Amino acid sequence: MKNLFQKRMEKHHDELRWLYMELYQNDDMFAELCSQLYEYDAQRGQQLKERDLAREKQPDWYKKNDILGMMMYIDNYAGNLKGVEEKLDYLEESQVNYIHLMPFLDTPKGRSDGGYAVSDFRKVQPQLGTMDDLESLTRACHDKGMNVCMDFVMNHTSEDHEWAVRARHGEGEYMSRYFFYKDYAIPSEYEKTVPQVFPTTAPGNFTWLEDAGHFVMTTFYPYQWDLNYGNPRVFNEMVYNFLFLANKGIDVMRIDAVPYIWKELGTKCRNLPQVHTIVRMMRMICEIVCPGVLLLGEVVMEPEKVVPYFGTVEKPECHMLYNVTTMATTWHTVATRDTRLLRLQMDIVSSLPKEYVFLNYLRCHDDIGWGLDYQWLMQFGIGEVSHKKYLNDFLTGAIPEAFGRGELYNSDPTSGDARLCGTTASLCGIEKAAYERDEAALERAVRLDLMLHAYMLTQSGIPVIYSGDEIGQENDYSYHQDPDRWSDSRYLHRGKFRWDLEPARKESGSVQQKLFDGIGKLEHIRKDSAVFHTDAQVSTVNTMDDSVLGIVRENEGCRLTALFNFSEFDKTIYLDEWNAGGTDLITGQKQEGNSVQMPGYGVCWLLKDKN
Ligand code: GLC
Repeated sequence: MKNLFQKRMEKHHDELRWLYMELYQNDDMFAELCSQLYEYDAQRGQQLKERDLAREKQPDWYKKNDILGMMMYIDNYAGNLKGVEEKLDYLEESQVNYIHLMPFLDTPKGRSDGGYAVSDFRKVQPQLGTMDDLESLTRACHDKGMNVCMDFVMNHTSEDHEWAVRARHGEGEYMSRYFFYKDYAIPSEYEKTVPQVFPTTAPGNFTWLEDAGHFVMTTFYPYQWDLNYGNPRVFNEMVYNFLFLANKGIDVMRIDAVPYIWKELGTKCRNLPQVHTIVRMMRMICEIVCPGVLLLGEVVMEPEKVVPYFGTVEKPECHMLYNVTTMATTWHTVATRDTRLLRLQMDIVSSLPKEYVFLNYLRCHDDIGWGLDYQWLMQFGIGEVSHKKYLNDFLTGAIPEAFGRGELYNSDPTSGDARLCGTTASLCGIEKAAYERDEAALERAVRLDLMLHAYMLTQSGIPVIYSGDEIGQENDYSYHQDPDRWSDSRYLHRGKFRWDLEPARKESGSVQQKLFDGIGKLEHIRKDSAVFHTDAQVSTVNTMDDSVLGIVRENEGCRLTALFNFSEFDKTIYLDEWNAGGTDLITGQKQEGNSVQMPGYGVCWLLKDKN
């Protein structure tokens, strides 16, 4: 009788071989890959195999409304991996059942890009613990019904990685795993077409290595060397690293910077067809060895570039993708009080197949890039450069009346372009109001913060809270004084978790209590009602007021009409008979008549049973 591995392999073998040969025309390396898949399957723990089997039987397990994520830095949250394990109760209290542990693999101090420059894919940063601690944590999480997500940084390695060190010493085998050039002829050709990721903090896409007498491709920081996936050895070895980590009990692999992994002279080196071949192969490899593991693609691009990473129904690629345009458009809406672009964005997302699962978020460890639909905004005479300037001025508080307290990121004086950093609370005005001891403004800011969380939770997919946001954590300015971090303003929102403020969540009337309980209540409602299922039919409604967004979700005979007031002014919204009435799930109040009164930054979730 065939075992499970053989059955899974049989299902995918032909397509896997086809794609592998298309890229690499290398039978031996394919044979090696297959025998290694067998090895990693053999090494996979029994409990994980049971988890795989259960998930295989219920392939839609992550597509409901019962997953709530939180992303966190291990050291900021609890010092080390053991600390996180000790603090799982707080996460449970926060109703979190999916934790994204920010990069924790070995990385050189001061040249780490927040851990995204990995020097050893099989070693945990010593100050955070060991691989055994990781396994113990994932086991403890699984016992509590929690999933664990980690980053798989596949586009590059640190310059301290063994391969990079050997390449630097001139070992051809290792040089061929990166992009090495003895002069600037080819790099200069690339520079003509390849855009820059960090135009101010790390300009250019190549770095000159004095000691090696070569240029090396470095799309991100100079110490992050791009891997050459044209070399099958790189693909195979990275797959083995992936499976090694999956076998430690990881449930979700965030494949970092995935659009960048294939390079081709004369192109932008983004989203090339070979990237999709590689992701499709990774998906099949997961389904062969660790079918319980999900691929989360980090594709920070415009919607038409993001969606292809789901693949097709027959040939799926990623299980989940970040809803990055909705996130950026949400902050645009905060700054403009005009929901029209957000409505358009909602309509685009809800017209996509329901199999597509998005990860929804307000803030993450990265900056907010203003990737908005400028072509659409142009009809109102809104130009890209001036609009970005406005958004940044509003959210950094450069305009006197603006409440945002963000900082710019990679501000490029030549193009006038800049991105934005800051925590949700600071961008919502909590920091400013608290500093100025302005009670009314504080009240408003908390309402805005809650309304944004409600909006995130109304979207289909998996909501992920940025650790600290649940207690309204403000910016952390200490990075300004740290020589290893001062030049990267993303550290503004990567502060230590404020355990000193956490107890205040139990003090009635405190900011922490209002947010923790407020968000908690919304999460509770979301998990309890079928209208929040991914299966629900989603559409938007015209509220006759550009500052109020209306979303309808219908499922199992129930209809939810959700209203979000993105302005500080009180509003009365008139609804047609389809949407009027019902009960506000948040206040429990019955809605009479067809007008709804909302305070500035108010939200309401009206539920009607159609039966
Ligand atoms: C991703 C990460 C970002 C990092 C980059 C390079 O975009 O989110 O923090 O700088 O990859 O690895």
